[in-house]
Amino acid sequence: MKSTIVKLIFTGVAALSFGSGYSQTPTWADDIAPILYAHCTSCHHQGGIGTFPLMTYSEASVPYVDLASAVQSGEMPPWKPDADYRHFKDENILTQNEINAITDWVNNGKPEGNPANAPAPPVYNPNTQLSVIDKTVQIPQYTINSSNDVYRTFVMTSGFSSDVYINQIEYQPGNPSIVHHIVFYYDPTQASFQYDNLDPGPGFGSFGVGPITSAAEWIGAWAPGQGPTILPADMGFKIPAGAYFAIEVHYAPGSQGQTDDTKINISYTSAPVIREVFTKPMLTHTDDMLDGPLFIPANTIKTFHQANNSSNTPISLIGIFPHMHRVGASYKVFNLGLTHLGEIIIC
Ligand code: HEC
Repeated sequence: MKSTIVKLIFTGVAALSFGSGYSQTPTWADDIAPILYAHCTSCHHQGGIGTFPLMTYSEASVPYVDLASAVQSGEMPPWKPDADYRHFKDENILTQNEINAITDWVNNGKPEGNPANAPAPPVYNPNTQLSVIDKTVQIPQYTINSSNDVYRTFVMTSGFSSDVYINQIEYQPGNPSIVHHIVFYYDPTQASFQYDNLDPGPGFGSFGVGPITSAAEWIGAWAPGQGPTILPADMGFKIPAGAYFAIEVHYAPGSQGQTDDTKINISYTSAPVIREVFTKPMLTHTDDMLDGPLFIPANTIKTFHQANNSSNTPISLIGIFPHMHRVGASYKVFNLGLTHLGEIIIC
């Protein structure tokens, strides 16, 4: 009983200091610009992946940009992992105080305050988010010739005369309104290149089934809203000398007649000791579902489990890419010793 009372008192104190945090109306210069520069403008700057800039007072205060509901709903900044469950590198979430500040500012008519109080705006390169670009892998310009979904794989020589470790990757869809996804492979054999040569026009039809040869390895993938992949300085995806790059682009239905020239910027690591990084489809509903098949009767919620224990060496998990379209609701990944178990809740 005693401990319950102590807890209640603490809650009261917390609530009190909360309310008094913004006794005056927040202003853009004093309160809002620091939040936007820390949490939003990495995407919301001219040329960034956020669809409009939030760098200046006039950009942040335009009437049609509803900052308050975007942050109250948790939709912005985008951060899918549940922060009550686990914290990850580069976590980007707002505190309740920051959400309150934005809400109060909007409700009070978005006052500017004294612009001299605003912090210096961060400087972004409009063309890239990478610190340095060592190579740009560019697909040939392609005009979509079907009104259905189109999956097309374009093959380019790497030109690498020795092994290279890719440390940073930035996907730049040429025509963002039609590019639904991009998958990036390397092929150490000639197979993809020969396939491309057999198919008239740039690239070859690939129907989203993965690389044309099992020798090809995934490097990574992109879907709308995704930023660059930046590994720690001593890690890299190994690309063997002489390999070909293969880039599969999925164009949404109805893209007929439009053109695309997607490109991928990469940079290398030359750290003296490099840890090799792999992208592996570890859990797929076809192979290793413990309680499959993946069948969900209408109006039901089901939980499925998958396990992968093919790796007997300890690994570090750098990232996961749950891919469930709008069917899946949540996805948990446990590390049980050397067994990797995924739990997917689908409704
Ligand atoms: C990782 C990149 C990224 C970050 C960080 C980010 N945004 Fe966004 N934001 C986007 C993208 C992309 C869209 C467009 C989404 C769409 O069209 O569906 C967007 C859309 C919005 C919208 C339009 C309405 C909506 O909810 O879709 C608002 C408002 C917004 N962002 C505010 C913010 C604020 C405020 C922050 C910081 C607290 C923030 N964003 C941080 C990428 C980002």
